Amino acid sequence: MTNQTTHPDQITIGVFDSGFGGLTVLRELLPLIPAARYLYLGDTARLPYGSKSRETIARYAVSSARFLLDQGADLLVIACNTATALALDDIRTAALPIPVLGVIEPGAQAAAKVTLAARESTGQTPGSQILVLATTATVQSHAYSHALARLSIHATEKACPLLVPLVEEGWIDHPVTREVARIYLSEALAEDRSINTLLLGCTHYPLLHPLLQQTLVDLGRPLTLIDSAQATAQAVAACFQQASPLRERKGALCTFYATDFTDKFERLGSRFLGQPLSGVHLIDLGG
Ligand code: DGL
Repeated sequence: MTNQTTHPDQITIGVFDSGFGGLTVLRELLPLIPAARYLYLGDTARLPYGSKSRETIARYAVSSARFLLDQGADLLVIACNTATALALDDIRTAALPIPVLGVIEPGAQAAAKVTLAARESTGQTPGSQILVLATTATVQSHAYSHALARLSIHATEKACPLLVPLVEEGWIDHPVTREVARIYLSEALAEDRSINTLLLGCTHYPLLHPLLQQTLVDLGRPLTLIDSAQATAQAVAACFQQASPLRERKGALCTFYATDFTDKFERLGSRFLGQPLSGVHLIDLGG
């Protein structure tokens, strides 16, 4: 798949995340490109990526991308914010000649659109208008603030390392998670009154959407929440805009791979995918 005229029912889209959070991206892809075949890999044995060094993240992400290439992927979607932020160039080099799309640019563009519209309607002076919540590694890379700066928007970034394990635990509506979110948000928002948009810069955070929204209301700072899943799926779909009309297929063909805990992947992954998920293949990508 190297040009925009390739028909989606002839291609295999590889979707990669450090765990099952990237299923939120697959969830958005399925209705947009129902004719494609999908391979999803969650590197659950080596999760979390968000607390690791750039070198380690790049090594893990490249080996995961190579696995999907070996399985026949024609296009790769890096549905992991941390891997996109720290290793997109390494993955692109390793995956040549197939196209590789990450989540940072589409997410930044979606958030920029919202915040620029708010700026216009309120006549707000430019300040730090977007708050990005992400893993420690993503925040330290400043990938989101650089992407937003290219769109003339200044962002505040906040690392929220406790949120991934809380979501992994299934505590998506739990008093502990509410308190942790309250602390992170009040610390971040204290820095700037001009923030009007909250960008969820981690695959796990969309599951906390209702909890985060309520916490913002409780703090008296309601914001527009944006996540990159939908914007990324739209960017992938744009690759096929010029293709001929889709041939109908009853239900997309998805194959799932995980590097550990396939039962947990099936159980929690169903929440991220929004539908039951089964038959996950256990694979070994080494250390
Ligand atoms: N997938 C990661 C991200 O979107 C979160 C989980 C992890 O730290 O590996 O940043």
